[in-house]
Amino acid sequence: MANSDPSDPDFLARTESYAVAAIEIAAVLQGEANLMARMATVASMLADRFAHYFWAGFYCVDAQKTDELVIGPYQGSLGCLRIAFNRGVCGAAALRRETIIVPDVDAFPGHIACDDRSRSEIVVPVFDASGRLIAVLDIDAIEPAAFNQSDARGLEAIVRQVFAA
Ligand code: SME
Repeated sequence: MANSDPSDPDFLARTESYAVAAIEIAAVLQGEANLMARMATVASMLADRFAHYFWAGFYCVDAQKTDELVIGPYQGSLGCLRIAFNRGVCGAAALRRETIIVPDVDAFPGHIACDDRSRSEIVVPVFDASGRLIAVLDIDAIEPAAFNQSDARGLEAIVRQVFAA
C-alpha cells in the first residue's frame, strides 16, 4: 500500500517527481495550443515517469452528448470508449467536479472494469480557463491503494497548468 504520510520519504519523492514532470511537460508543450496534442503529451510523459501507473489517459466531455465522456489520448490496454456521467469513477469525478481516489475498485459501486487487472485508481477533473469541465484524467494501477494525496495534488497541479492557464 502506498504510504500516505506526507512526511514519509516516498511520499515526498513522489511529490517532487510530479513537480519535475510539470516542468518537463510545460517545456514540451510550450507554443502548442492543440488540445489533443496536449492531452497525448501529458498521458505519455506521466505514464513514462511513474512506475505505479498501469493505465493513464483522458476521457473527454463529448461535444455532441455533453452528459457522456468519450475516450481521449491514453497509454495502456484498450479503454472503454464511452462512460456516462452517472457511471464509474470517471463519471462520478465528472459529476462531482472533484478528484476521486479509489483504493479498491471492487469496493466502488458502479466501477467500470475496462481491464480487470486494475485494482486501484485516481480520477482528476480537467477544467479549461473558464472553469468548464472538458475531460477527466484517469490513472489506474494493478496494485491496491497505489494512489495517495501526493498523486492528487501533483496531477491537479499539472492539469491546471496545462489546460486552465
Ligand atoms: N476506471 C474507470 C473506467 C475507465 S478504465 O479504467 C480505463 C471508471 O470506473 O470510471
